[in-house]
Amino acid sequence: MEIEIKGIHKSFQGTPALLPTDLTLRQGEFTTLLGPSGCGKTTLLRMIAGLEQPDGGEIYSGGKCIYSKSRRIDVPAHKRHFGMVFQDFALWPHMTVFENVAFGLKAAKVHTGLKEKVTEALAMVQLQGMEGRYPHQLSGGQQQRVAFARAVAIRPSLVLFDEPLSALDAVLREEMRVEMMSLVKDMGLTALYVTHDQVEAMSMSDHIIVMRKGEVLQRGTPEMIYEAPSHPFVASFIGKSNWLEADRVMVRPEQVGWSRSSEHDWRYRATVHHVSYVGERYEIRLLMMDGLDPWTAYSSKRFAVGERVEVYVTPQSICEMHEGEGALTEVRQNLEFEFSS
Ligand SMILES: Nc1ncnc2c1ncn2[C@@H]1O[C@H](COP(=O)(O)OP(=O)(O)OP(=O)(O)O)[C@@H](O)[C@H]1O
Ligand SMILES: [Mg+2]
Repeated sequence: MEIEIKGIHKSFQGTPALLPTDLTLRQGEFTTLLGPSGCGKTTLLRMIAGLEQPDGGEIYSGGKCIYSKSRRIDVPAHKRHFGMVFQDFALWPHMTVFENVAFGLKAAKVHTGLKEKVTEALAMVQLQGMEGRYPHQLSGGQQQRVAFARAVAIRPSLVLFDEPLSALDAVLREEMRVEMMSLVKDMGLTALYVTHDQVEAMSMSDHIIVMRKGEVLQRGTPEMIYEAPSHPFVASFIGKSNWLEADRVMVRPEQVGWSRSSEHDWRYRATVHHVSYVGERYEIRLLMMDGLDPWTAYSSKRFAVGERVEVYVTPQSICEMHEGEGALTEVRQNLEFEFSS
């Protein structure tokens, strides 16, 4: 189902946590809110879920208004038919796995075929045979699978995830990332996912919305966000950035060449400051001449620290920043990306 958010905003004690924000989540799409701590991600998610009262704006689910400040519509959380997965799993410790999942269905007033629906949801996350266990008898990954099963058992029109993997260790996090994304896609669910982990956002999402200080700075596909950041914060927050001109002109490390590829290339002189071997390549930290901040470049061979080098940048590979969302129009048209806002 399509979810539409129009001008939703919120302040706490006079301090804005979220400025008026528009957002369209299309059926079957996976959208991620990405941004540093305190930028308003959880606040937005909780308002969509109906767990927090917005100060204004409207929310539509499948064309039906579920929240409107001016029209005094506020459909309670349990009637919005959304699923939610939290960072701390939020399972009931005194309930078994079966009861936890059944609880989600009962809260949504589903009473017919309860046993089948619970069994089906647990089979999806490969927890057959664990119905009788209590949360403390499960690993972190298994607990999160139960939380996921509970959220999706009702076949929600939207599933909301608030940093669901951040309590897990790095290896498990990567496994669960793939597993959750596949389940969401297989079930055809519409998902809104919150994280401050840029790798997680890039690898899971159809669309990424980058936020800072209660404001949306840029939205687009992961490729767009990485290849054509429109704001210096976006360029620095996602991936590594080398600045040719502070806060305005940037090139990604993989675009920095060690030899001239054409006569139009720009040449920069530098000294090798640090070399890290990361398996498939060397990451070279460069101290730049001409008053530029240090750059990162990639190489297949090792350089000696202190070595003087020349690097080349093809003018087509640079990104120029257009600050503010309004300036995005140009980028949108260039990339022929159909926007949801
Ligand atoms: N109930 C509340 N009362 C007062 N201030 C709040 C409340 N909830 C959130 N805030 C404030 O609103 C801002 C946004 O908080 P929010 O929890 O939405 O951030 P976040 O992006 O989810 O951060 P994190 O990545 O750390 O979870 C913060 O400055 C926070 O302190
Ligand atoms: Mg949060």
